[in-house]
Amino acid sequence: MRNSTTNITRREAIKLCAGVGAGLLLLGTRCLHAGIPPSGQRAADLFSKTIPSSGEQIPVIGIGTARRYNVGTSAEERAPLREVLQHFVDLGGKMIDTAPSYGTAETVVGDLVADLGIRDQVFYATKVGAGGQGREAGIAEIEQSFRRLRTDHIELIQVHNLAGVNEMLPVLRDLKESGRIKYLGVTTTSPNQYEQLEQIMRNEPLDFIEVDYAIDNREVEARILPLAQDEGIAVLAALPFGRGRVFEAFGDQPIPQWAAEIGIESWAQFALKYVVSGHRPVA
Ligand SMILES: NC(=O)c1ccc[n+]([C@@H]2O[C@H](COP(=O)([O-])OP(=O)(O)OC[C@H]3O[C@@H](n4cnc5c(N)ncnc54)[C@H](OP(=O)(O)O)[C@@H]3O)[C@@H](O)[C@H]2O)c1
Repeated sequence: MRNSTTNITRREAIKLCAGVGAGLLLLGTRCLHAGIPPSGQRAADLFSKTIPSSGEQIPVIGIGTARRYNVGTSAEERAPLREVLQHFVDLGGKMIDTAPSYGTAETVVGDLVADLGIRDQVFYATKVGAGGQGREAGIAEIEQSFRRLRTDHIELIQVHNLAGVNEMLPVLRDLKESGRIKYLGVTTTSPNQYEQLEQIMRNEPLDFIEVDYAIDNREVEARILPLAQDEGIAVLAALPFGRGRVFEAFGDQPIPQWAAEIGIESWAQFALKYVVSGHRPVA
């Protein structure tokens, strides 16, 4: 039976939270102030969690590519992203969350990772959304992701916003069995899909889900996160800053003294620490 009162249980429940905004990692100072340790701090020092279905450990902070990685081919546009990716892996970071629907992001990530020679240091999480137009369209989109990411294996593919989920989960299971992907899952950031998400979590073997979760957007704490705990499903937190809404709420206020005392140096770090701690409302 689930213990509904302790934070320890809650923390253990959220085996993994990642999916951080790309802008977060774009600028050096933002990087340092948002939970990423300064240069010199290595992978062994990073806060990691366990993927329940495999026992694999992974650092809790990743890169999201939905907006900042949707750029063209010029060196000027790509240089800051290249620098971020190098810095990210130097620090021991692994997860890069992308999707075919993020404009050029998959291609940009694939090019930069190949160029930097860091493929074996990163964990690719991409998605399939074209399954909404049928199984074959979904399969074609997955094959396109392999080409764009310039790889013969992808760590995680998730059904994006549950599009064509009944058609695509068997396809993802086949890919997992053949070793082309390591994990599978589903995503949504729409509360009106939470009920369907819960049904899928109960009835399908999933390694991951990805849901919207931020300090000011905690609906998933009520049912989705406890269910993930019960089912042994890793959780990726999308939109940890609520697309910037969190910063508007904090405004110009200084960080409280008690937060500074536990090592929090910015509102970005404050927001991320909330998400990766895995809070649960006390009954
Ligand atoms: N259904 C799904 O699967 C789904 C849906 C949505 C998102 N996602 C994933 O979640 C990732 C994050 O989403 P997102 O980028 O849209 O939203 P987000 O991370 O919640 O918020 C991004 C916003 O926060 C600002 N920001 C980031 N770091 C900051 C810092 N240190 N200080 C001040 N402002 C900062 C950004 O500013 P700038 O504009 O200046 O960078 C931007 O306005 C996506 O890249 C994607 O991987 C998945």
